[in-house]
Amino acid sequence: MISLKMVTPSHISVLLQEVIEALQVQPGGHYIDCTLGGGGHAAAILEHSSPSGRLLGIDADPEALTITRTRLRAYNGSTLLVNENFANLQVICIKYDFLPVHGILLDLGLSSLQLNSPSRGFSFQHDGPLDMRFSPNQEIAAADIINTSSESELAHLIKTYGEERYSRRIAHHIVEKRPLKSTLQLARVIEQAIGGRRGRIHTATRTFQALRIAVNHELEHLELALRQAVNLLVPEGRLVVISYHSLEDRIVKQFMRRETKGCLCPPDTPTCVCGHAASLRLVRRKVITPSPSEVKRNPRSHSAKLRVAERIVIQDEQYEMAEKLCCSVPIKANGWRRPATLKKLREWLDYEPVGISSHLG
Ligand SMILES: C[S@@+](CC[C@H](N)C(=O)[O-])C[C@H]1O[C@@H](n2cnc3c(N)ncnc32)[C@H](O)[C@@H]1O
Repeated sequence: MISLKMVTPSHISVLLQEVIEALQVQPGGHYIDCTLGGGGHAAAILEHSSPSGRLLGIDADPEALTITRTRLRAYNGSTLLVNENFANLQVICIKYDFLPVHGILLDLGLSSLQLNSPSRGFSFQHDGPLDMRFSPNQEIAAADIINTSSESELAHLIKTYGEERYSRRIAHHIVEKRPLKSTLQLARVIEQAIGGRRGRIHTATRTFQALRIAVNHELEHLELALRQAVNLLVPEGRLVVISYHSLEDRIVKQFMRRETKGCLCPPDTPTCVCGHAASLRLVRRKVITPSPSEVKRNPRSHSAKLRVAERIVIQDEQYEMAEKLCCSVPIKANGWRRPATLKKLREWLDYEPVGISSHLG
């Protein structure tokens, strides 16, 4: 059972018990929490994998790391916490020699710690600068996008990332009223453009979501992380993703479905030219969502969708790839041996066409 100390006063971890079950956390396992946040999932993973389990925790936000480092103090010897972007997942694992990996968690979006902090600029309920960056090292903040994009670029962004039907009207009002500096100023402009509340949600919700996604390249980073996660998992290792809106969930769903298939050539292609091999098995076809009692306890969990897939036994091609990963012995059902040398592993990554190097800091 999950204990109460895994629930921080400021961020309540979503689908906690379900995450532990989906990851099949075992004592001695090695897990990666790509979105450490307040550390609730991480603490539960550590508790269930103790005494000899290990956790690599990643967060782009240095503030989240500071808070969580203190929280996970008791597990000092088993945790490695890094301030990084999960788009660099493979490189991070190599840099910190964190292989093999038995389970990977992505709990997407932002934490309540970030949402409730006015200075981070994520919320239209508090006044703050139009920032919205997960990491202070990012160059572009929301204010740059708001104040320098053309009206049509803004409309496109709000429509694409916010799925906002009044995107053009909102973009027009923003351009008329800018420069805009604060979250409340922007919320007011949106209200002037399309009115106040719309049903249960505030009219600024979708535009704020769109800006946050654009500022942090959230969808691109998700795609990069998913591809790398599959390569890192041992056979039967689990990939668990919680998403909070349809754009994220669509990417996760399509990715997992594609990776369960072998050849991806069109049906009328005489012989396979794509060379694609299945790498995942869906553990559950249907998404896992929070129970009504969880939503009541934590209303922010209402849109959560958990998907889980399992790395399948390595096929010939993946076998070859893993050998390139300089495993000193062939892969065994319970995972691969530590790489003989990190240098060889780095050489292998040099030929990876995933564009990882462009994300190296
Ligand atoms: C929903 S919170 C995670 C909450 C956490 N699971 C818990 O139990 O407290 C998402 C976290 O992921 C981080 N994050 C979002 N995108 C990221 C990325 N591309 N790389 C690293 N961290 C990211 C955010 O900074 C935030 O702290």
